[in-house]
Amino acid sequence: MELRTFAERILLVESLDVKLERVTESLTDSVPGEAIRIEEPARSIDLVFAPRRGAPSMPHQSTFAEPRKRAIAHHILANHELQALEVMAWVLLAFPDAPTEFRMGMAEVMADEQRHTRMHAEQAAALGIRFGELPVNCYIWKKSQQFQSVLDYLAGLPLTFEGRNLDHTLEFEEFFEAAGDSRSAAIMKAIHRDEIHHVSFGLKWLRLLKPSGQSDWDAYVEHLHWPLRPDKSIGDIFHPEPRLAAGMTPEFIARLQSGEDSAAQARK
Ligand SMILES: [Fe+2]
Ligand SMILES: [Fe+2]
Repeated sequence: MELRTFAERILLVESLDVKLERVTESLTDSVPGEAIRIEEPARSIDLVFAPRRGAPSMPHQSTFAEPRKRAIAHHILANHELQALEVMAWVLLAFPDAPTEFRMGMAEVMADEQRHTRMHAEQAAALGIRFGELPVNCYIWKKSQQFQSVLDYLAGLPLTFEGRNLDHTLEFEEFFEAAGDSRSAAIMKAIHRDEIHHVSFGLKWLRLLKPSGQSDWDAYVEHLHWPLRPDKSIGDIFHPEPRLAAGMTPEFIARLQSGEDSAAQARK
């Protein structure tokens, strides 16, 4: 299957099953086609993006003893994963001239995002809420619409949204474990491991595509656009270890941790 077809199935077909279908045949990138920017992904009626503030917010961890609250958490997280998948498909269609190796690597990450969406959706259902039963937001999708280049994407999604998820997955693993839900905790652990690879993939390509001589940090900050800023890439508790494992330099990690440049970025 062509990468373009794979991306089109994710963005232009409403059915969740089709979007999440694992591609078993080998992928090729012989016909990347014209650049197109899809404004909104096709989704089944129950998963269409809700108007602003129409979706439930993340329940507080102190309520996680209630299965329904954990189900809401998985429902929200399934939608995060699905948006990440859709944004990646959007990148394949928007930047057909990107290096083939980058585009093929994206497909591998996307297979993980398909699996992550499925794991959260199934766990939400096991805890009593079908994926699509609650309204869903469009935060990640909307923020991604401003990407004008692959470097913008790398700064915004792998290094910021997925970077933040390095912390969030560990936080939620702990919350679920504390609530006695080891199945949910195991899902977070598995996603955490994949996320390290996704951040690593983003960093690898940031290094390959940025001008030589520019530091990782400067390339990252230059391609991050308001309201995304470095402090959006960290959770409530900052974990340096998965960032080191993803290949970030100690200097990059220290700058992230200090929140340095965030204020300057915010004024842009
Ligand atoms: Fe994911
Ligand atoms: Fe990811």
